[in-house]
Amino acid sequence: MGVKEQLLQEEEEKRGVVAVNPKPKKGLVSATVDLIERVIVYLMHDAKTPLHYLAGNFAPVRDETPPCSDLPVRGTLPECLNGEFVRVGPNPKFVPVAGYHWFDGDGYVLMIHGMRIKDGKATCVSRYVKTSRLKQEEYFGGAKFMKIGDLKGLFGLFMVQMQLLRAKLKILDVSYGTGTANTALVYHHGKLLALSEADKPYVVRVLEDGDLQTLGMLDYDKRLAHSFTAHPKVDPVTDEMFTFGYSHVPPYVTYRVITKDGVMLDPVPITIPDPVMMHDFAITENYAIFMDLPLYFQPKMGSVVIHIEFANVEMESSNAWEEGDEVVLITCRLQNPDLDQVNGAVKDHLENFTNELYEMRFNMKSGAASQKQLSVSAVDFPRINESYTGRKSEVNVIDAKTMSADPIAVVELPTRVPYGFHAFFVTEVSNVLNS
Ligand SMILES: [Fe+2]
Repeated sequence: MGVKEQLLQEEEEKRGVVAVNPKPKKGLVSATVDLIERVIVYLMHDAKTPLHYLAGNFAPVRDETPPCSDLPVRGTLPECLNGEFVRVGPNPKFVPVAGYHWFDGDGYVLMIHGMRIKDGKATCVSRYVKTSRLKQEEYFGGAKFMKIGDLKGLFGLFMVQMQLLRAKLKILDVSYGTGTANTALVYHHGKLLALSEADKPYVVRVLEDGDLQTLGMLDYDKRLAHSFTAHPKVDPVTDEMFTFGYSHVPPYVTYRVITKDGVMLDPVPITIPDPVMMHDFAITENYAIFMDLPLYFQPKMGSVVIHIEFANVEMESSNAWEEGDEVVLITCRLQNPDLDQVNGAVKDHLENFTNELYEMRFNMKSGAASQKQLSVSAVDFPRINESYTGRKSEVNVIDAKTMSADPIAVVELPTRVPYGFHAFFVTEVSNVLNS
């Protein structure tokens, strides 16, 4: 490590970023476990099952794109768009050993697609977030971590055991977590964070030339010991960040508040009866809304490892606010998801994903609750103007067919961008703070 890099690292450590330097071990023991895994895969995995999440525009783009400036622009980019458009999504770097699920991002890897717009010019960059998981798989030169796409039946149980064995034998170093940082981004306390809900946040720095650099992980001075949702909320008035983590052991949900100065306050356990997969939540000026939905983690011997109750599931919230005694929540409701939709086994189910926008009202005095459908299926997961987070804003449902067909500007990208999860716009001001 050069002097300059060392100084940079020290400076970042002072800012509370944990350098991620996992210590995996290669050798006879790891080769033996690989062999056992290959035998299990050969005997139990049906290699003929198509992996739709690796096909079409789900297919990964394996190379990173260093900053490409002065991209061809047709039309004019407005000045109000000066800033960084950053998108995150799964982009597996290594070929999976057996199954693969979209959420895995092949488990380990993810790429950020950033586009910097400044003075009518655009720069594009694609980088992997250097997670502990990715660094270790790069060290081995292949897929080593367990994937959601493998978690089916007895085979899934064996694959879980492979991961536990590798961790026990210290072939894999799980001390920094096993997340992919592939789901969403948030900007808080001068830091751009790449998030996946089973892990802690990764800090990504936007460099002067538009490049993206993973600095490390955030554990808020060791105060964060559980997972961190991919959808924390930043209060636009107080600059506090509200977040939670869910777990398969009690307390199943833990609520946290991070002050505008980046200090994480004491954990608040949320008591719910079962360990559910809770992807999102919402805040208002006085309330935090947690969705106790029937999407369970339920390990069973010799059975399905991830158990999904087939019932209505609300997944992605848009916004919430207070109106007198009522709390109003706008959310996307995903109805009756099935296992094939989740594991990617049936192509039609991936392409005909249904979900509707709903308004839900909770009367905090009378306890009455009601819901109203706002859209037909299928809507994209919504984004709001974040300066209205937790406050009343209007929901405009627009028929996209009547909008002008002509974009005001088209930027030609140097590389294909695979389907991603969530995007985020960082203004030029935030950018300066970040660098
Ligand atoms: Fe999401």
